This record gives sequence, structure tokens and C-alpha cells, in this order.
Amino acid sequence: MTGGRRDVVVVGAGIVGAAVAWRAARAGLTVTVLDPTPGRGATHAAAGMLAPAAEAWFGEEDATRVGLAGLAAWPAFATDLATDLAAGTGARSPGPGLRDGGSLLVAYDVGDLAEVRRLVALHDGHGLGSVELTVADTRRSEPLLGPRVSGAARIAPDRSADPRATVAALLAALAAEPRAVVVRSTATRVLIQGGRAAGIVDDTGAEHPGGAVVLAAGWRTPELVTDLPVPVPVRPVRGQTVRLDAAPGGAPAHVVRGLVQGRPVYVVPRAPRPDGTCEVVVGATSDEGPDDGRPTAGGTFALLRDARALLPALDEAAVVDQTSRARPGTPDNLPLVGPTGVPGLLLATGHHRNGILLAPVTAEAVVALLTGAPPSDALRVADPRRFDPSSPDLTLRSRP
Ligand code: GLY
Repeated sequence: MTGGRRDVVVVGAGIVGAAVAWRAARAGLTVTVLDPTPGRGATHAAAGMLAPAAEAWFGEEDATRVGLAGLAAWPAFATDLATDLAAGTGARSPGPGLRDGGSLLVAYDVGDLAEVRRLVALHDGHGLGSVELTVADTRRSEPLLGPRVSGAARIAPDRSADPRATVAALLAALAAEPRAVVVRSTATRVLIQGGRAAGIVDDTGAEHPGGAVVLAAGWRTPELVTDLPVPVPVRPVRGQTVRLDAAPGGAPAHVVRGLVQGRPVYVVPRAPRPDGTCEVVVGATSDEGPDDGRPTAGGTFALLRDARALLPALDEAAVVDQTSRARPGTPDNLPLVGPTGVPGLLLATGHHRNGILLAPVTAEAVVALLTGAPPSDALRVADPRRFDPSSPDLTLRSRP
């Protein structure tokens, strides 16, 4: 129903925008979602680690707290999505593929082991309960680890999900939802009427009117606000992943977050298929800059070199996909979720390395703002106005 006024217009149908739109429609709002290629941005590259501990870093306590809230929101999100799918709103989708089982933080050499011990101490400070394992216990728990591995820690709360399957499930749910419409066009600017956001104009010149606008266009979000006094300090951080197809018995049982001579790598297995074969995602490179969608030889080489150093059995797996996309990074590594200085204009971007982890909690927070429900405290630190010099609330500003 392009052209009809909706309660909300969402720009971007990656996992974040699609989750916002689905939760909004479930809350009774009418929604238009615009995306020329739904689900094909950063979500398409992501491995799906739901790993606030494995991604925790020194000095980033707020980010870790937000990540833990993101992890806590995932089970209800997956259950609600599965309920919608089972109710016939997309029965052909396999669902989000949420898996428990924790992850292993694996050290290749003794220098990496020293780093793993520092990370276990960091996790202790957050009460995350990561536990260092002996080499024998490491091998018992993950027999495919290679002989050179020097130690590991178990991170019990971590989970994983399948980002491509999740966004497919969300799009299936949206397609079956009478209150939602997904329009395959490219948003170019925010329509402003009477000083507030009143919809979106797309690249054909068509207007998509709405009572509120949510920008969830990842690293491209700043392009939508160039004519507005809305700071969106998001930059592209390119990441490449490689997908492997392992024969029965050829995939690790756990998510493996590794350090190989100081270089981070992760290996995320999906649930094995009925025939025992298994998709395994290896990720991810990280370099500053925009993305042309073309994986590089060096990126693929580096990922496979480090993954096979930890898990030599991966040598036997077929390489089935290489994907390069850009993550939306922010100056303080926290997302931008919430209102802006323009009434009716909200942001849901800047999730950097944690878009999959934070999609459910972001959708809850945005829908609470749209419906006037009490906002959750979890994403208060993600208020986009912390970067707005005209914001009257100094407590929202980013710390130096
Ligand atoms: N969450 C992992 C990554 O962005 O590479």
C-alpha cells in the first residue's frame, strides 16, 4: 500500500529494521519497510555469534551490559517468531536457528593463552563466569581442536543464531502480516512536515508517509539525514566471512572464538542437517572503510589460515560462500537507538559487531518508544542524542 499513511516507516530490512517492523506490527501499528534488497546488507555476512562475553573488551563496560541485555532478549524473540511462523505466517521458513551450548575461547600459542587469561579476568569482573579449561578438558569438550592449541576457556552463556534464516523468517512473518508492507525501493531522504518527520521519499520520488520514521539502514544511515540537523556518526567497518559445508563429524560442536598469534578468528557451526552435514561460518575480518561487496583473496586466506590452525578438520570442508559487507561502527562502540532532535525521527543503527545480538532488544526499545510503553533501561546509553550538541540533556552525551 505504497502511498497510504502508516503509523511508522522503517528504512532498512536487515535484521534490525525487519525486527523493528515485525515487533511494531505485532504491537498493532501499521508499518511500511523500505529496502531495495531486504536482508542483503551486513546481516547477510554475519555469522550469528550471540556472544557479549566473547566480544567484551577492556573499558567497554556499557557495551558489555547492552550486549548482555541483547542476549537475554533473544529466547523470547525466537519463541515469538517461531509462534508466528507456526501460526502459518511463513511456514516455509526454518526459523532463527537459536542454539545454546556456550562458546570456547581458544588460544593457539602461549601468548594467546596469556590473552585468554586476561579476558577470563575481564569476564569475572562482569560476573560472566568464564572458566579456564585444562588442555585435556579442552580436547575432551571439542575433540576437533588441533594438537597445537595451548588452552581455552568456556563461556557458558553465549549462544548463536542463523542471521540469514532469521531475516528470512522475519520477512516471511512481515509478508503474512496485514499491517505491514515491504517496499523494494531505496530511501533517499526524510520527509519533514511541520517540523517533524512525516515519512520517506524514495529514489523514484514516491512519498511513503508515516506518523514516525525509523532509520535502520546500517552504515548508509547518515546518507538519509544530510539535510537535517541530526548527527549520525556511523562509519563503515568492512567484515568478510567464509561459509563452509562440513561432512558428518567435520564441524566443531561449539562456537570457537580463537586467538591465533594475536589474531582473532571465530568459527560458528549451525545445527547439523538431518544427513549430518553442517554449515560452518568463519569470520571475520575487520577493516575501516566502505564495502564494494567483493571478498578479497587476502581476507579469505587469513580467515582459513587461522581457522584451520585451531580446527585442522576444516581442511576437508567445502568452501561454499564468501561474503563481504560493512558494519555500522560508532565512535564509542555503542549503537544509536532512540529519538533524535527531530520529532518523530528515530534511529536504530550503529550496532557495529553486534547487530544480530542486539536486534531483539533494539526492536523492543524502538517499539516501546513508538507505542508510549515504558522504555527499557537497557538501551539508555544508546540514546542517539548523546552526539547531538543541541541536546539539552547533558547526561546523554558520550563520555570522552
Ligand atoms: N560479531 C562479530 C563480527 O562482527 O565480526
